[in-house]
Amino acid sequence: MSRIEAGNVMVVDGGGRGSALVDKYAQSEHVESVLAVPGNDLMRINTDKPVQIYPQLKTTSVEEIAEICVRQKVSLVDVAQDNAVEAGLVDRLQAVGISVVGPTRVAGQIEWSKAWAREFGGRRHIPQPFFKICLSQEEGIAFLQSQPDQAWFVKASGLAEGKGALPARNNKEAIERVREMERFKDAGKVFLIEKWLRGDDSPGEEFSAYIFSDGENFKFAGSAQDYKRANDNDEGENTGSMGCNSPALVLTPDILQEIESNIFRRAINGLREEGRPYKGVLYLGGMVIREGGRQTPYAIEFNARWGDPEAQAIVPGIINDFFEVGIAIADGDIRNLQLQTDGMARVVVAAASKGYPGNYDAVRGKEIFGIKEARTVSGVRFYSAGIKEDRGRYYANGGRLFYIVGVGKDVIEAQERAYEAMSFVSIEGNNLHFRTDIGWRDVERLRQRRG
Ligand code: AMP
Ligand code: GLY
Repeated sequence: MSRIEAGNVMVVDGGGRGSALVDKYAQSEHVESVLAVPGNDLMRINTDKPVQIYPQLKTTSVEEIAEICVRQKVSLVDVAQDNAVEAGLVDRLQAVGISVVGPTRVAGQIEWSKAWAREFGGRRHIPQPFFKICLSQEEGIAFLQSQPDQAWFVKASGLAEGKGALPARNNKEAIERVREMERFKDAGKVFLIEKWLRGDDSPGEEFSAYIFSDGENFKFAGSAQDYKRANDNDEGENTGSMGCNSPALVLTPDILQEIESNIFRRAINGLREEGRPYKGVLYLGGMVIREGGRQTPYAIEFNARWGDPEAQAIVPGIINDFFEVGIAIADGDIRNLQLQTDGMARVVVAAASKGYPGNYDAVRGKEIFGIKEARTVSGVRFYSAGIKEDRGRYYANGGRLFYIVGVGKDVIEAQERAYEAMSFVSIEGNNLHFRTDIGWRDVERLRQRRG
């Protein structure tokens, strides 16, 4: 890697995922400073290197971002947020000669159009649920009336902040969900009706899996299991996520092998063969279901980026110099990259404003206490998201405020550490909300395996 010169890196993201990436890039010996768009106030907390944030910009401020990169001599940009991919940021940056981790707009269509992604999956024989693409309510309703009564998911095809998939227990409910597609505006003009995937005698189990790809070759980057519901026992509303653990223990070596060959290999080959080589992190949101006596992985969705908070669990465990990883993805050939991880388990707990994902306006501006103490617990990492800093004090400024990552030899130890650190934190007026059971599936699985 002697051709790599020291340089500045930009991360395009404002949340906890971006904070984890800033932390990791700053650890590279090749990196002098990190820029983050829009970034957040505490992104510099884990490093002594300069971190410049741009709160006045959006991740879709394509021209401004390109100008800053040229002016500040940025040598690598990591485009971590989906809307920037759809806005064509990667294409623009490549046009001005900058190395980018992240797919072009057409490669990223695998995330920003679920309809395109399903048709692609069909052409490429990627295991996925039976689906129907609909261009109007009438079409959706007529289709459902022609089908035997069963459970479905009705999904907006476009980007809907992770809230575009609506479950329906039967055809009647599915017709109601079809009528609700209107509320997603342009994102819901095209929508999908998909069979609700489940096993022969049990629901499936979800996982997130990640690869790094240079457009042709790929390396497995890690796995996690996300906890999306707002409250303990997986109750309450769906959120952007309340935490996750990594690795996902449901993925045995055999299942992982099948995911690599039947899902990732087919996706990367297919994108390349169709003239859309995919460079960046490809995220598979999948489900393992038990059918015919064996566990089979299916693709529920692809995303053109890391998950948030899965990045906070996986990225810290990568031992390689992250700038070298980025350059290998962006410019070259990752076949020679020996990806190494520390083999530790991690549990990420999201700290949210009370009321999230509903109305949490009353919490905005309230003071957050105990972050310094939480950060002193051994085996934890802290990543900020919706926090404002003012003269060394911290204030709530969003739904998901920050993340505590516990590290351990296994999920049980990692979970203990995360919650020990979390016990130091509070928000003025008792306004902190977090789940107390993140990782429970794998904690139970591990206990069972050990008898
Ligand atoms: P998506 O927005 O596509 O990630 O879907 C959100 C969530 O809905 C997923 O995490 C799954 O829990 C669930 N889901 C989506 N599609 C299906 C499906 N066809 N079968 C079962 N569950 C699904
Ligand atoms: N953790 C789910 C996502 O990032 O989409």
